[in-house]
Parts: sequence; C-alpha cells; structure tokens
Amino acid sequence: MKNINIAIDGPAGAGKSTIAKMVSAKLGYIYVDTGALYRACALYITENNIPDEDIEKSLPNARLSIKFADGVQRVFLGDRDVSGLIRTPEISMAASRTSAIPAVRAYLFETQKKIARENNVIMDGRDIGTVVLPNADVKIFLTASAEERAKRRYKELAEKPDCPTYENILEDIKKRDYQDMHRETAPLKQAEDAVLVDTTKLTLEQSAEKIIEMIGEKL
Ligand code: DC
Repeated sequence: MKNINIAIDGPAGAGKSTIAKMVSAKLGYIYVDTGALYRACALYITENNIPDEDIEKSLPNARLSIKFADGVQRVFLGDRDVSGLIRTPEISMAASRTSAIPAVRAYLFETQKKIARENNVIMDGRDIGTVVLPNADVKIFLTASAEERAKRRYKELAEKPDCPTYENILEDIKKRDYQDMHRETAPLKQAEDAVLVDTTKLTLEQSAEKIIEMIGEKL
C-alpha cells in the first residue's frame, strides 16, 4: 500500500517544525525536516570553502545522511552528527543562499523522495507540495506575519547569551523570505491545491489541532 505523504510548506519561523512534530507524534508518522538537509549542505560548502561552480561535483563527498531515533531526525556529514552545528544564524543565511543553487536542490531531491516513498511522512520545507511531493495526500501552506514570526523567534532566543535584537531578527526573516520566494529554482510558494493556515493568531496547540482535523477529513 502507498505510504501517506503530508507536505507542509511555508516561510521561516511560521512554526512548521514544532507543529509538524506535534502532528507526527499524534499520527505516528515520521517527521522530515528538509531545511536541515539544506543547512547540512550549507555547512559542508561553508566549512570547505567550496566555490559555487564546484558544488555539483563536491556534494557527493559530503556523505550526507539522515537517521531517525525515536522519531527524532539527526543529520550526518559522514560519521559526524551535525544536527546542532547547523542551527546558527550564519548557517541559516548560508542555507538560504546555497539552497537557491540548482545543483544543491538536485542533490537533495532524490533523498527526500526516497524517504517519502518508504515511510508515512510529514515533510516540511519550502517546495514539498510544489516540487518534491506534488502528489502528496494533504498539502498545507503554513504562514504567519513576519512581525509575529520575529516575535516568536526573539522569545525563543531571549534567554541565550548574544541574543540578537528583535529588529535584527525581523530584518533577517524578511531577507530570508525574499531570497526564498524570489529564487529561480523551486521558490517558496503555495501549491494550488494546498490549504493556507495562518498561525499569526493561533497557539501552536491550536495550529496542530487544526491540521490534525484537516488531515482526518482528507484521508
Ligand atoms: O526551514 P529552515 O529555515 O531550516 O531552512 C533553511 C533554508 O533552507 C531556508 O532558508 C530555505 C531552504 N530550504 C529550501 O530551499 N527548501 C526546503 N524544502 C527547505 C529549506
């Protein structure tokens, strides 16, 4: 029997990963964070100073893989678990830039398809409903205002040393939105058959409930 594939796309900070994790725990599906794959490629490219024109031939040397332990995704470059290292603001910006390079997208395409073929998945990203899983059973486009997304991110970081200001976070979010939406290959956009969920005025629990309800109705 064909596995169930649920696509959740949307801009950075809309709550995709937290909500997708809640929904997948409830449904017993695997949660795939495709942004982590783009981030791991960005880390590899940055650490090795790979010029754009050499990316295509170098990426297979990255030996990128993902593993799931108790439903939690870990990302590896060779034997090195880079799941923590890919979460810096520098790698966020680098991933936004390098994810626009067609060779990077082509490299990750088959990895994502394979996971979705072999498992019931909730996959989140920017082009899952439009490019990676155009036949997904349910497609959701999750968004929130840039100000609300910056506010949430600021709250998350407020406790940490070197927390950026709210204004810096908002500026980064707007810059990443622009880059993600205006690139030529697989830009961030809502698939025609995706349902829009605006989480600006919803809590994470309310958003997750709404999505679980939608999935229940569709399947
Ligand atoms: O979801 P995230 O912030 O971890 O993603 C990091 C970057 O990767 C983001 O700026 C855009 C890119 N990305 C992408 O182009 N396509 C995806 N399916 C997922 C992420």
